[in-house]
Amino acid sequence: MKVKDRFYRTLWPEYDRGAVAIIDQTVLPHQLVVRELETVAAAADAIVTMRARGAPLIGVTAAYGVALAMTQDDSDQALEAAVALLSHTRPTAVNLAWALARMQKVLAKLPPNERCEAAWREAAAMADEDVATNQAIGRHGLGLLREKQRATGRPLRILTHCNAGWLATIDWGTALAPIFLAHDAGIPLHVWVDETRPRNQGLLTAWELAGHGVPHTVIADNAGGLLMQRGEVDLVLVGADRVSRAGDVCNKIGTYLKALAARANEVPFYAALPSSTIDWRIADALKEIPIEERSGEEMKSLNARLEDGRIARVQIMGPETEVANPAFDLTPAALVTGIITERGISAPRELASLYPEWA
Ligand code: MRU
Repeated sequence: MKVKDRFYRTLWPEYDRGAVAIIDQTVLPHQLVVRELETVAAAADAIVTMRARGAPLIGVTAAYGVALAMTQDDSDQALEAAVALLSHTRPTAVNLAWALARMQKVLAKLPPNERCEAAWREAAAMADEDVATNQAIGRHGLGLLREKQRATGRPLRILTHCNAGWLATIDWGTALAPIFLAHDAGIPLHVWVDETRPRNQGLLTAWELAGHGVPHTVIADNAGGLLMQRGEVDLVLVGADRVSRAGDVCNKIGTYLKALAARANEVPFYAALPSSTIDWRIADALKEIPIEERSGEEMKSLNARLEDGRIARVQIMGPETEVANPAFDLTPAALVTGIITERGISAPRELASLYPEWA
């Protein structure tokens, strides 16, 4: 996507330096900072600290992490160690395990001296596929938004949670891809952006929408219910970190409450995601999907711009305050109207009909 005059992806290889460049998402929307990762440890750290975040981007960052590891040591042990290190970075988004399994499958069968080049090639293919996948999600979602907007006869009011935009992927995003395309196609719309405490990924969404000229308003997480009761939301559209075969959607904490409010107010609720986010093995989503518990520090402090323009971490609670910080929740399929994938839109329980290879 374009930022001012330049096109960016969230991550790109710097082959000359044997490094990977990422946009540091911990300092956005205040600053646009590009950082270079030179080792697998740095890639793992970028995922843990959420400099690179969002399910699809976590997967591709891990793939490049394996490429960085193979650049330094192409042995079986180094491959195993890289996969083990990266697989323990964040537990919920299944794209991580998906990407690592794919890298391992390609590399393990090769002689060590061919692994480095193959690893960079495979990671780059994954990044390009992510862009194409998200564009396909965008096209399917565009049809839905067009139809909904025609039915309402006024600007379509969409509520989104967290950031499932281009920053959460390599480019375009999942939930935001249809919104960008609809805006480009001249479909009038307005986006309600949940702030998404504690890490405020909604501010990343607002930054993206502003950069693309899409009308939007940031709201406190608790405002969505009222807006739905007042009839001011036509559709909820979110991303996902792991979706079960039965169409249960695990996404950023707070998504479930939006789905409950949407159902109570007869507002359709859609999730947009690539097939790499579907975990076909999950039978009981509530029991089997691991929910990440993050540090309470994320509750207690924020990155803020001070009055003198400096960016600083500011404390908003006393250090002694007890906090809990579960990072994801589960929206049962019964509350989901439809799932938008690169292969089309399905009812949650019919997801496998889009993927006969998994039926
Ligand atoms: O903790 P995060 O910021 O990585 O969580 C991101 C989300 O929950 C997104 O909605 C999800 O990963 C989909 S991104 C296309």
